[in-house]
Amino acid sequence: MNKQWVSNVLETLSTIGRTQSGGSSRLAFSAADLEARRYFTGLMKEAGLAVREDAFGNIIGRLEGTDSAAPAIGTGSHIDTVPEGGHFDGMVGSTASLAALMRLKERGPLRHPLELIIFQMEESSRFSLSTFGSKVMVGTADLDVARGQKDKEGLSLPEAMNHAGYDFEKLPGAIRHKGELAAFVEMHIEQSANLDEAGIPVGLVTAIAAPIRSHVVIEGKASHSGGTPMNNRKDALVCAADLVLAIRAVGNRFAKKEIVTTVGNLVVSPGAMNVVPGKVELWLDLRGTDRAVMDEAEAAVEKAAEGISAVHGLPIKFRRLVTDTPVRMTPRILEVLEESCRALELPVMRLVSGAGHDTMNVARIADVGMIFIRNKDGLSHHPEEHADIDDIMAGLDLLTETLYRLAK
Ligand code: CO
Repeated sequence: MNKQWVSNVLETLSTIGRTQSGGSSRLAFSAADLEARRYFTGLMKEAGLAVREDAFGNIIGRLEGTDSAAPAIGTGSHIDTVPEGGHFDGMVGSTASLAALMRLKERGPLRHPLELIIFQMEESSRFSLSTFGSKVMVGTADLDVARGQKDKEGLSLPEAMNHAGYDFEKLPGAIRHKGELAAFVEMHIEQSANLDEAGIPVGLVTAIAAPIRSHVVIEGKASHSGGTPMNNRKDALVCAADLVLAIRAVGNRFAKKEIVTTVGNLVVSPGAMNVVPGKVELWLDLRGTDRAVMDEAEAAVEKAAEGISAVHGLPIKFRRLVTDTPVRMTPRILEVLEESCRALELPVMRLVSGAGHDTMNVARIADVGMIFIRNKDGLSHHPEEHADIDDIMAGLDLLTETLYRLAK
């Protein structure tokens, strides 16, 4: 598949769920997401793949090999987006994976079957559940937590799935086991500027950092902003402000150990100009590449919260939503990727992924590797997110060669 074909597919995807800002909003199970999925499924069928969907809506396209007993070699990514998302995060890998399979089909059958997997709900924006499709697939999804998650409109995940034609109760049927997939290689834009700064088109991921995410509730007392004296307030937002600063301080303290901490959303109740805030909900996102260090950093946040709670006299409650363990890529796959780079005369650069990807879950049942594509200024989850088509094509060559070597 040539540059024009790849550009056209990316261009078409970019028009689905297009927003005023020039971005795309395709939250999982939304109308725009379903439209993009229909479009992409059509491309997969046109390419001659046998296409099926599992109970969660992960799209699986398969090309048989010459050995029907051999485990499959997989590739793929996702096509859902954050609100006002860009046109490359997920789409580059999905499109290149399909293009790679089409190229390999032309070359003639390989020993192993090939699979293209488009994971559903990679982005956590709608239900605060990240890389959920791949978790469902490998059996690590916490279905009890997921059942109660709601979007901003108050719609639960089971309800949203139902509206889109899926049944939450059937999710256990989507589980796949070790031995079905021998290897999985995902291509993705970098979402950091390491490749851009080094002037290198593609990179080989060695490890994926993982998030711990918690929902935090601070209970104060709502009261009249005019009638409540300063010394007699239970202002949950002032308490939250201290907590946000403490969370940043922990991130700074652990920065050398590859920890980053973020509070990206705060809900203030009742949220009126003339009412002392009675309750604040906030979400902690803590990421690292070493689970023990992440636990240490999280404990430091909770310790700081205890102190802040005591100073303000307000309870602060943490509820863990997500615990992902950082994942190392499989050495054997990294070697094949590196050999393929050499064969294609591409420079070799190894790097860590700060963002989570479906590959970290697939690692539970298969050997894994990831290819990163240079991302201008590392800008992602933004309408102006950009990857150059020539870099994407270099990544496609590398992906094709790697899959060929793994599947032949
Ligand atoms: Co992505």
